[in-house]
This record gives sequence, structure tokens and C-alpha cells, in this order.
Amino acid sequence: MIEQNFSLKAFNTFGFDLKAENFIRFNSIVGLSEILKEHREKPLFILGGGSNILLTKNISGLVLKNEIKGIKIIEDHEDYVIVESGAGEVWHEFVLHCINFGWAGIENLSLIPGSVGASPMQNIGAYGVEIKDVFAYLSALNIATGELEIFNAEQCKFAYRESVFKQALKGKYIICNVAFKLSKKAIKNTTYGAIEDELKKMGVSDPNIEDISKAVISIRQSKLPNPAVIGNAGSFFKNPIVSEELVKKLQEIYPDIPNYPSTNGTKKLAAGWLIEKAGWKGKTIGNIGVHKNQALVLVNYGGGTGEEILALSTAIIEDIKSKFKVELEREVNIM
Ligand code: FAD
Ligand code: EPU
Repeated sequence: MIEQNFSLKAFNTFGFDLKAENFIRFNSIVGLSEILKEHREKPLFILGGGSNILLTKNISGLVLKNEIKGIKIIEDHEDYVIVESGAGEVWHEFVLHCINFGWAGIENLSLIPGSVGASPMQNIGAYGVEIKDVFAYLSALNIATGELEIFNAEQCKFAYRESVFKQALKGKYIICNVAFKLSKKAIKNTTYGAIEDELKKMGVSDPNIEDISKAVISIRQSKLPNPAVIGNAGSFFKNPIVSEELVKKLQEIYPDIPNYPSTNGTKKLAAGWLIEKAGWKGKTIGNIGVHKNQALVLVNYGGGTGEEILALSTAIIEDIKSKFKVELEREVNIM
């Protein structure tokens, strides 16, 4: 059933009360195909959990809320399973389901908000793991042809917070199912320093995947604001990838600047560190601001607007550019 002039307040984690001109939920590929046949001429926007979008205005056209559910084993081997999930499953619940069955690989990605269907969009990542590491395939409906197509990892062109669905194929496909190859023999990834420290605090020396998940949850809860309490969309900016030469120049002035190896001899800087160093951390402007514990997270304390958040992000980008000669890029999808 199509609802008109529908409030999206509960459907975006910033909590902005903007409207969808038309709003409809779908819970199957058949149902989705029928909606597309009827409304193909309308501009379409696919909504998952609304945890990586910034609404700056009402959305015209049709907002399609993905509610395709179901988790099933596609292949069951001695060492691994291929498990497929409907795109409308809640990501963290899917992670807990896999941990429960002893399937390893996504425990480091515990508590990331949003849907399974959005996980390939920006190749979600945290604590040393990205979904590209465990990705098997996805099925997505081609909006122009109405055909269901299968994409393997290579076709998804995964990179840091990137995929083909955010670039060349933006707005052209609706992801319906995502499948992962998960190990039955836990290959524990505790390389991210904070996990080791947290496990020590928990008194765990030989962690299983459930312990790792608990450690990650605990770290995340101590650092990131809960969107149910303070509106936010996680990291607002990506960590910038820059040349080694620029890092060397910056190190002359800031010897302690955090930097990590990236692809092809480039380096990744910590945007949170740059933003903090530039004096933005904890800054409040009216009802919005930069979070006090995590400078990468822009927040709505209630009563702010998406336009204000966008303007704040622009001011931060310009300031970081002038102070460090580094171009920050937004991670969040601006609507
Ligand atoms: P939405 O916000 O609903 O959509 C995001 C984009 O994907 C939109 O462009 C939308 O059109 C598109 N889209 C959604 N579903 C589909 C579909 N089925 N088919 C086609 N297009 C689709 N991200 C990380 O990578 N790592 C983190 O550690 C992390 N931590 C976070 C912490 C907090 C507190 C918050 C609020 C966010 C965090 N995020 C993180 C960002 C966010 O959780 C992820 O990007 C998540 O995958 C978004 O899922 P969603 O369902 O909410 O997507
Ligand atoms: N830092 C600061 N000040 C801050 C924030 C961070 O100096 O206010 C420094 C930290 O001290 C550390 C470095 O920046 O030296 C990195 O910080 P942290 O480990 O907290 O990670 P992050 O770069 O801030 C990234 C992801 C998160 C992900 C975590 C854990 C991006 C854009 N963000 O954050 O993802 O959960 O690592 O892996 O890559 C998201 O994408 O929404 C997100 C939350």
C-alpha cells in the first residue's frame, strides 16, 4: 500500500522529520517487481535502515523500504558455509545469528546499524574486517530491465567504503539478497589493538567469536553515540587516502599524526584526528554539532536540520583543506 506525504523521522538515524512524497514497503522480489512495473516512471529511492543517509529535503517520487527477510544455507561444507540473507534483515541480528551457529567472519562487524542489503553499498567495515573479505555474491534487481542479476565480488568493485553501487551503477539496482562465505573454523581477527585490550579487560585469553563480538560491541558503545539517543549516521567523513609525500610533510609539523598503509603506496589518515586537531571536536552550533568523543561523527541533538549538518560538514571540509591540505570526502549519502 502506497502512503503519501509519509514522515521519514523514524526511518533515518539523524531523526530528521522530512517527508517521502510516496512510501511503500516490499518484502519479496515478486512484490518489488510489481511495484516497479507500476511506478517505473517515478524517481525511486531505496531505503534500508536509514543509518547512512542525510536528508536535507523532502523526497519526491517513491521511497521503497526494503523488508525482504529470510536467512538460508546455500552450501554446507566441512569447513565453511555459504549463507544467504534477505536484504531487509537487520545487519546486527544477522551477525548474531551467524555467531550463534558458530559461523565465523563477521563478528568484528557487530553492532553496525542498518540492513544486510546496504552492507555491500559501501563495503561496510570495522575493526580490521570489511564485508569484501567474506562476500560470496549478491542478487539485485535491474531497475531498467526488471531482471534479477547476480554479482560476484569482482563485479561489485569493492574498495574502502566503496562499491560499484555507489559509483557507476548508482541508483540502477535494488539489492535483494546477499550471500557470505563464513568459516566453521574460527579464524580470529583480533589484530585491531583495541580488541586485544578489551578482551584483556574482559579477562578472556582464548576468545571465541562470541567474545570478539562482545569486545567489539563494548568498544563501539564507549565511542559512538547511540542513534536512539543522539541522532547521527556514524562516521560522517571517510578517512582520507593521501600520498606518502604529503604524510611526510605533515609529520614535520605533527610528528604524532596517525597514518596507516593503504593501497599502491598511499597512506590513510585518521579524519577524526584531523578534525579534532583543527578544534572542531565537541563543538555545538544550535541543535547540531561534532560529537564530544568522536570528531568523525556529526550529531543532531534534536531540532536540527539536514541542511545545517550539510553546512557544518562543508565548513569542516574547507577548514581541513586549508589547515592540512587534505580533502575530506563525505561517507554519508546526501539526499
Ligand atoms: P541506508 O542508510 O538505508 O542506505 C544507505 C545507501 O544505500 C542509500 O544510498 C540507499 O539508497 C542505499 N541502499 C540501501 N539499501 C539498498 C538496497 N537493498 N539496494 C540498493 N541500494 C540500497 N558503517 C561502516 O561501514 N562501519 C561502521 O563501523 C559503521 N558504524 C556506524 C555507527 C553508527 C552509530 C551509525 C549510525 C552508522 C554506522 N555506519 C557504519 C554506517 C551504516 O551503518 C552503514 O553504512 C550501513 O550499511 C547502512 O545501512 P542502512 O540499511 O541503514 O542503509
Ligand atoms: N581519533 C582522534 N580523535 C577523534 C577520533 C579519532 O584523534 O575524535 C584518532 C584515534 O585516536 C585513532 C584514529 O583517529 O588514532 C582512528 O580512530 P578509530 O580507531 O576510533 O577509528 P575511526 O577512523 O575514527 C573508523 C571507521 C569506523 C569504524 C572504526 C573501527 C571510517 C570513516 N570510520 O573510525 O566506521 O567503526 O574505524 O574500525 O573509516 C562508519 O563508517 O560509520 C564507522 C563508524
